[in-house]
Amino acid sequence: MLEQLNGHDDPYPVYDQIRAQGALTRDGGLWATTSHSLVNKILRDRRFGVRYANGTYPGTPNVVSGSFLELDPPDHTRLRRLATPAFSPKKIDEYRARVEKVADALLDQAGDEFDLITDYAAPLPIAVISELLGIPDADTGDFANYGRLVAQSFDGHFSPDIDRANERIFALFERLIAERRARPGDDVISSLVAAEAEQKLTVPELLSTLVLLLIAGFETTVNLIGNGVRALLDHPKQWAFFKAYPDVAGAVVEETLRWAPPVHLTTRLAHEQITLLDKDIRADDGVYLLIAAANRDPEVYPEPDRFDLMRVQKPEHLAFSSGIHYCLGATLARMEGEVAFRAVARRLPDLRQAGPAGHRDSVVIRGMVSYPVSRS
Ligand code: HEM
Repeated sequence: MLEQLNGHDDPYPVYDQIRAQGALTRDGGLWATTSHSLVNKILRDRRFGVRYANGTYPGTPNVVSGSFLELDPPDHTRLRRLATPAFSPKKIDEYRARVEKVADALLDQAGDEFDLITDYAAPLPIAVISELLGIPDADTGDFANYGRLVAQSFDGHFSPDIDRANERIFALFERLIAERRARPGDDVISSLVAAEAEQKLTVPELLSTLVLLLIAGFETTVNLIGNGVRALLDHPKQWAFFKAYPDVAGAVVEETLRWAPPVHLTTRLAHEQITLLDKDIRADDGVYLLIAAANRDPEVYPEPDRFDLMRVQKPEHLAFSSGIHYCLGATLARMEGEVAFRAVARRLPDLRQAGPAGHRDSVVIRGMVSYPVSRS
């Protein structure tokens, strides 16, 4: 399935071919679904998990394999609960003014021609998650490269650079953990360090939670911002409407997440024999949940291929997944997206594409690595 999707900058025609085979199809020994209701149902069905029924991890482990993203209950529940307070809507709202400042500063620094990804869409979420985690003097370029290496590993591509990059990031977190043990602060690392002292999680779990929060915090949001600005510039009427009413920034976020989501797919494994739509899924069978295809399910969204800010977003798109793994950072990502889009509409009304976009070479996380733009 991944092979079939590889090498396509535009995977939607492939999704349509898979959709034509029915709501639940089998391809090369793996199940796949493009149906919004079925993706949602499987994500909420506790008979499916992210590991095999015996708890082992499928495939080659990557750096976040030990984190709660890749764990089933009860470990998932225990670790997610420890990280949740840092992402409460109240906490996130307190960050809004600071995110606005970062967005304005980045646009102040950008020249007449700049790269929307490397100069704006990437540094913004990196600055935000670094501050939230209490990482001083974060090296934006270094983190962005690291994020890309980790994202590639989700596709099963392991660059030879990944081990060195992992070592550097673990060394950084080990140093910060030691500092917070000596001088606790009011940040996520301090609260997780306190939990570790109370034996609520182990040191390896602490490290993998921090790596997950760091990577999940920017590797996806960069694509929300990049994909959204590109969608606006490619749809002049929608762009004009947004500039006239910048308060519809929330609709830009939701329609971008539906129409061009950063995460295109996830997988689940059956923990027992399950019959769905008259098909027998055996224990330990894997199911590809094609989130991006489900977000364009014609049974749910009229004219699904149209980017339309006025669209009624019901039911909610699946860009943040569903069920127990529903994105912990959804409120933060939505706020960052709103701030980023509004700043562009207010400050760069004549923005236009100034060169060819460079696409990520990835099947799971979709977006651009470069997008040259001009202010006039
Ligand atoms: C537009 C931006 C974002 C998108 C599209 C996104 C998407 C997702 C998706 C699809 C999942 C679930 C994957 C699955 O079910 O297998 C997820 C989980 C997660 N996300 Fe996000 N995410 C975004 C931003 C963020 C941010 C800013 C954070 C902040 C740290 C974050 C933290 C997490 C965490 C911790 C999980 C694991 C949740 C769990 O396993 O219980 N995400 N995200």
